[in-house]
Order: sequence, then C-alpha cells, then structure tokens
Amino acid sequence: MKVLKRTHMCGELRESNVGEKVILNGWVQKRRNLGGLIFCDIRDKTGITQVVFDDNIPEELFNKADSLRSEFVIGVTGTVKERESKNPDLPTGDIEVFAEDLVIYSKSETPPIYVKDDDNVDDNLRLKYRYLDLRKKKMQDNLAFRAKLTNIARNYYAENGFTEVETPMLIKSTPEGARDYLVPSRVNQGHFYALPQSPQTFKQLLMVGGTDRYFQIAKCFRDEDLRADRQPEFTQIDLEMSFVNIDDVIEIQEGFMKRVFKELKGLDLQTPFPRMTWDEAMERYGSDKPDTRFGFELQDITDLVKDCEFSVFTDAIANGGSVRGICITGGAPLYTRKKIDKLTHDVKSYGAKGLVWIKVADEISSSVNKFFSQEQLRQIADKMGASNDDLILIVSDKNKVVFDSLGFLRRHIAGQMGLLDDNQFNFLWVVDFPLFEYDEKEDRWSAMHHPFTSPRDEDAELLKTDPHSCKANAYDIVLNGVELGGGSIRIHDQEMQKDMFKALNMGDDEIQEKFGFLVEAFKYGAPPHGGLAYGLDRFVMLLTGEKSIREVIAFPKNQNAQCMVSEAPGIVDEAQLEELGLRLADKEEK
Ligand code: AMO
Repeated sequence: MKVLKRTHMCGELRESNVGEKVILNGWVQKRRNLGGLIFCDIRDKTGITQVVFDDNIPEELFNKADSLRSEFVIGVTGTVKERESKNPDLPTGDIEVFAEDLVIYSKSETPPIYVKDDDNVDDNLRLKYRYLDLRKKKMQDNLAFRAKLTNIARNYYAENGFTEVETPMLIKSTPEGARDYLVPSRVNQGHFYALPQSPQTFKQLLMVGGTDRYFQIAKCFRDEDLRADRQPEFTQIDLEMSFVNIDDVIEIQEGFMKRVFKELKGLDLQTPFPRMTWDEAMERYGSDKPDTRFGFELQDITDLVKDCEFSVFTDAIANGGSVRGICITGGAPLYTRKKIDKLTHDVKSYGAKGLVWIKVADEISSSVNKFFSQEQLRQIADKMGASNDDLILIVSDKNKVVFDSLGFLRRHIAGQMGLLDDNQFNFLWVVDFPLFEYDEKEDRWSAMHHPFTSPRDEDAELLKTDPHSCKANAYDIVLNGVELGGGSIRIHDQEMQKDMFKALNMGDDEIQEKFGFLVEAFKYGAPPHGGLAYGLDRFVMLLTGEKSIREVIAFPKNQNAQCMVSEAPGIVDEAQLEELGLRLADKEEK
C-alpha cells in the first residue's frame, strides 16, 4: 500500500500555512456529512486538523470520505485555507484543509472507548484498551514529557562524570524490604532468581569495582499493595557516588532539580532546599514526607489534658502515647457532623479508634462536651492558636497512630479545601532518620532504609552500645508531600557492618545467605560511597500535575497487579512447570 509522505503533523498547521499543499497522516477523530460537504477531523499525537471534502472533488473521492468512521487510519492530501468560522478551542482552529486525495490505510471497528482527553471512562476499560487510550493527546504529552525528563537526567549525570551502567534483572533478593517477584530457574531446579527491588547491591559493587559515579534508569519490581503512587513495576533514576558525604550527594541532586525545573517548567528553583530532621517532620506534620504548602501543623496537647476526666486521653497517655491535634483554620462551618463522621471513618485505617472535634465559637461545641468544661475547651483552643470558626481535630493513641492519622487528615482536608496548589513546588530534604525501626508484626528490629545505611558520624559509637537509638546518614527528597527519592551514605567499613548486622540480630548463616557476596566484596577495598534513587514515575506525575503514576506509565498494572492489555499474569501449561521442576499446590493442599 502506498504510504503518503507527510509534510506536517496534524496539530501543527496555522494561518501562516494558508495556501500550502499539505499531506497529513492520522486517525479519524470524527466525520460529519452535511449533504454536499463532509467534515473530517484528523488526529495524531500533536493534535487535530479539520479536513473538508466538498463537491468540487470527484464523486468517488467524496463517497470514500463518506465511508470514514472514527479511528480509521487515513492519509489526506489537500490545500490549507483560512477557516470562515474559527474554532478558538483548537490551536489549528483558524484553518482547514480542503482535501484533494484520500488514502484509507486501515479501518476500525467501533472503538470501545472514545479517544477524548476528558472522557470519563472506567479505569479498567482504559487499561484494557490502552493503545486507544494512548492515542489521547494528554497521554502522548505525558509520555513525551517523561522522555524529556530521562534525557535531561542522562545528560546532566553524564556531564557530572556519572557512567550509565545496566545491572542485572535476574538476581538474588535485594534488601529493600518489600516482597520479591521470583523467577524459577530451569537450569538450577528448586532455585529462584528475584527481580530487583532496586539495583542497590549492584550499584555498591560498582563502587567497589571503581566505577566512581554510576547512573541508571532502572526498572524495579516490588510485590506490594498498590496505591496511586505505587506500581509493582516502576522505574528509578538511580545513582551512586564514591568518596562523598551527604552534602556532596545533595549538591549534585539540587543541581539536577534546578536543571529539570528550568528546562521543563521554565522555573528558577532556589537552592539549597530546606532540610528538616525526621523528628521535626513527625512532630510538626505527622509524616516523614511533609507537604509544606499549607499549615495545619500538629500540636501536642498531652500536658494540657493529662489530668482530664476523659479516659480515652488519659489511657493513651498512661500507655506511653500522646494527645495531639490540628487546627483547621475556617474549618468549623465547612465540616458538618456527617463530614466529620466520614473523617473519623477514614482515620480508622491508620489505627485511630476515634476522632475528637472541637468547633471554636463564642460558645464552643465539641464531641467531648460532656468531659470538658467550656473553660477547658477554651484552653485547648488557645493552646492550638484557634479562633472562631476554626475546627480542631484531636487523636490520642500510640505516637505512630497519632502521627499517621493526623498526617493523613491535614493533607486530606487541605485537598478538600482546595489548598493544594499544583503550581507550587515545595522541596524539602528529610534527614536524620532513625537507623532502625521496630516491626511490631514480626516483633523485631529492622533497618529503616536497608542494612548498608551508615549511622550519622556522631552516632558511630552508639551503634555498639545503644544501636536502636542511632540516627542514620540517610536522606529523602520530598516534593509537595510525596517522597520523590531517598538514599544514604553506606557503610564501607567491615567492622561497622558487623555491628549493624548484630543490631539486626542476624546470625552468620543469615548474613552469608543474604549478603555474603557483598560482605566478601567489601573485604577487598571499598571506597566510602553513597547514593540515591528517585521514583521516576512519581516525579513525572508531580511535574505533569497527574494524580496517579498510572497516567505517566505507558502500560501500567491495574489495582490487582494485572496487565489488562496482555492479561498477565496468566496460567502456564503443565509442560512448562515440569521443565522448571514446579507443581502447583491444589486448593486442598493449600
Ligand atoms: P527506596 O526504596 O526509597 O530506595 O526507593 C526510591 C524511590 O523509588 C520510588 N518508589 C516507587 N515508585 C513507584 N512504585 C513503587 N512501588 C515504589 N517504591 C519506591 C519512590 C522512592 O523514593 N535503593 C534505594 C535507594 C538508595 O538508597 O540509593 C531505594 O530503592 O519515589
């Protein structure tokens, strides 16, 4: 079949092209037959142009145009003319193309979803017919934006002496803490590869190998519950540097951010970005990824209520917890009982058993009126800096529950009140993370980042004496309440690494089994090193103002970790299993 050599993209034509003969290739957006005149909108990834078939053309061509339907793939030759009734909604709205020739490359059945940016179609249907969904200009713009970002990353890091290196996909389990995706080995039956949760161990080996500065756009796999900003398969901009301290790593990253924002947003970012300790982030925002675009900071009222008659508060305090609240300025008239009930329901998923509210007015009303006098409620309101019309929300429990619940509420409510400005970019480094965290479910201490993260220099001795109170040489970069990336300065000293494993209660066999190869490598001269990884999908999501990373991934997984297009995961036949030495347990056996 003859493929017309296109002269322009469909979204490109302007008044300056009037009089030119052009050739466009694309998809039929829509076709209208007004008797002697057929209008056909032709679309490609750049936009739409209106094509006109009038009665000056041969009948055969006119009839061919009349046979066009949505999503037919066509080529049109014609002349650009000024449009009489202009369409201000389209960049090409000042012109139209009068057709002289038409090629139909392929026909389309009635498409199951419309190719329209604002079409409100079910997400699973969008994912099943992703190739149709991708025809939308918004989706193509997102893919192009993502490609620009990865190009900037490649250029920036190359200019700064980083070598792009690919690390293996079939590896031994990495220590990032999520569940692994396993791949059975046919050659070594009964053995499994893991898909990398990140290139962590290999990038450290590259430092031992003398690469000095490593960079990669790396695919990562984590079998964890999905959320708007989590996918089982995602991409990192991953890097590692030798002979550096925290400030060196951070300086390079701030330079990268400046470049990205200048080139993609035309904005001059102010650096250095503020740094906040993990303790302060939790105390003030109830989160290790604080959104600092708005207030509603947490306030501790434990002291004020420790002798009150409300046992929910006093019990929480007696159990080592705290009582804290947030003050929603102007929130009292906006939040009815019903809406507060919904918030109460929402915080249950963070472990909160209830939510106390106080509406500040000349006569204060509250869900705990029975237990507190007006005077006591006024004291709480004063302590929280509240005035009339403000809404105070209080949670009392173990600190983790209090922080998680209030951290969620402040951002959720800010969203409901329209306070999250997509055009404001608040960067923040969160530093001084705890080195360890206590895993209640498993009843043991684990590394908050991973077991190769070093303690702060001033805590090096503490690692021997009181390891669990050590703070880490770790840092997260946070943008508008989203953890964009994280990293640390690693342990390169064998003795310190032993202390670390000891604090994690790991025996020699476990160390050998899990990280033997890394420990072995470090015996032969490891440079001091550190690095960081950005979540590329999250970064693009924030820069494009999308609400989910699915909008910036060409073929994402759905809520059940399925690829709707290819229907993965699928079942495999017996022969394949046998070859791998695997047998599925029947339901009974399970
Ligand atoms: P971490 O586990 O913090 O660090 O991951 C780095 C960044 O990757 C992004 N991210 C995700 N994005 C989408 N879906 C997911 N399931 C997902 N999980 C993580 C986040 C996160 O900040 N090896 C270390 C980095 C280092 O220490 O150098 C690591 O992977 O934006």
